[in-house]
Amino acid sequence: MHSNRINIPQLHSRIKTAEDAAGLFKDKMVVASSGFTKAGDSKAVLKALAARAANDPLQITLITGASLGHGTDGLLAANHVLAKRMPFQVDPVLRRSINEGEVLFLDQHLGESAELINEGIVPIDIAIIEAVKINEDGSLVPTTSVGNSPAFAAAAKQIIVEINTSVPLSLEGVHDIFSAGIWPSRKIIPITETGTRIGNSSIQVDPSKIVAIVLTETTDSPAQINERDEKTRAIANHLLEFFNHEIKKGRLLPSLRPLQSGIGKVANAVMEGFIDGNFHNLTMYSEVIQDSAFNLIDAGKLAFASASSITVSQECYQRVFNNFERYKPYLILRPQDISNAAEVIHRLGVISINTAIECDIYGNVNSTHIGGTHMMNGIGGSNDFARNAYMSVFVTQSSSKAGISHIVPMASHIDNTEHDVDIFVTENGLADLRGLAPREKARLIINNCAHVSYRDELNEYFNNACKAGGQTPHLLQEALSWHTRLKENGTMLKTNPVEF
Ligand code: COA
Repeated sequence: MHSNRINIPQLHSRIKTAEDAAGLFKDKMVVASSGFTKAGDSKAVLKALAARAANDPLQITLITGASLGHGTDGLLAANHVLAKRMPFQVDPVLRRSINEGEVLFLDQHLGESAELINEGIVPIDIAIIEAVKINEDGSLVPTTSVGNSPAFAAAAKQIIVEINTSVPLSLEGVHDIFSAGIWPSRKIIPITETGTRIGNSSIQVDPSKIVAIVLTETTDSPAQINERDEKTRAIANHLLEFFNHEIKKGRLLPSLRPLQSGIGKVANAVMEGFIDGNFHNLTMYSEVIQDSAFNLIDAGKLAFASASSITVSQECYQRVFNNFERYKPYLILRPQDISNAAEVIHRLGVISINTAIECDIYGNVNSTHIGGTHMMNGIGGSNDFARNAYMSVFVTQSSSKAGISHIVPMASHIDNTEHDVDIFVTENGLADLRGLAPREKARLIINNCAHVSYRDELNEYFNNACKAGGQTPHLLQEALSWHTRLKENGTMLKTNPVEF
């Protein structure tokens, strides 16, 4: 049984139910799990652990690649299993527990989380890794993401493998597993093109560490596809127009440079926009491959995509995984410390496109905290890319939920600093901040990007701040008054809005 999925006969006796495997965890353990942007995550064991904790309380630290699907983080939080969580999450129930202070959350650059493990700073007790199969040498072929799994497998004292029989064996060969090692013998990462292969097709594992194998057939949680609306179309059009301008100036080719695009409705609209434009031979060096990438492959526009996971809608999942041989030549899945490696992003000259919660008049971006205090999702890979990209783009709508301007005098939390933000875009327009000083940036951001209802008050703030002086003029007693006014009056405006 499952001999083509578990290729070491002695391991067949370690097949267990998810409930039995969940019995292996002890209070205060550090648990690592595969899973990146809801792809390739534990579908059975973490859920069984949440169920066990309802009657047999225990708390763990949980480390993943990035977000988990199937509401697993919510179930674990609701059953009080999580003492600490890192490095990223997107779950509304867990988000509430984090913001209530019940769960400690370490919000980390996704490209750097493996280093904590590799250096032994966070020792792992048990790792759960979803795999397509176990090879004769004990190595694991991952499923739809690689994430931090190679680091987890190397560091963990014990490993539970979830063999997912719904994922076709044809995935073998799409992964490229490489570790640069640790200081002082850290190697260079010899990727010179998006498609360069530098490692192995499976994750090395000592088979004696495999304490349980759990069989599942649950597919990844489908990604939610947000249809393009007026605002996201406008943002995408400004950006595509700008790329055309850069091509005319001779600074970019029609193939642009390798693209990174974050998750979200705007990023998706921009990527879909490439289908109709005069762009061709595009490539991606990103952390996640979404529906838009497969649509671009089908349209003959995308030549190659490298990332750490494939996160797609239900329809796209069927299309891709029922016919994986068709798409395989276009794809590589890498560990997240390679997909998000500063060295490679810089060498390839990536164009990164990420979404801001808010941006201040000088171009400092808040990607994580609502109102400066409450966690949304986490910084993710946004700064791995923004800091090292050739061109770092941030997008957002100019305003939302009547009363909230996404352009504020001073960002209430800063994840991506003005030094890492080259291009800022809203539905109103685009600000090319390259080569500009803070006072020049402020005028451009306010006049090109801010919503008309907030423009006068932003200009008034900036003019008064300039009178007070400074390289980056601010009125400290007023700088965060837009946020406090929102809390107190339900609007950031001093006066009533013209229109939203
Ligand atoms: N003030 C208050 N709330 C705000 C806000 C602001 N300035 N900006 C966004 N929000 C809220 C929205 O109202 C919405 O809340 P809801 O879910 O309760 O309706 C939520 O934040 C998401 O905003 P939305 O406009 O739907 O944008 P999005 O889905 O594109 O997500 C980020 C935007 C910034 C939250 C998301 O891109 C993110 O988490 N980024 C950080 C990680 C990252 O960049 N990864 C990149 C590599 S994948």
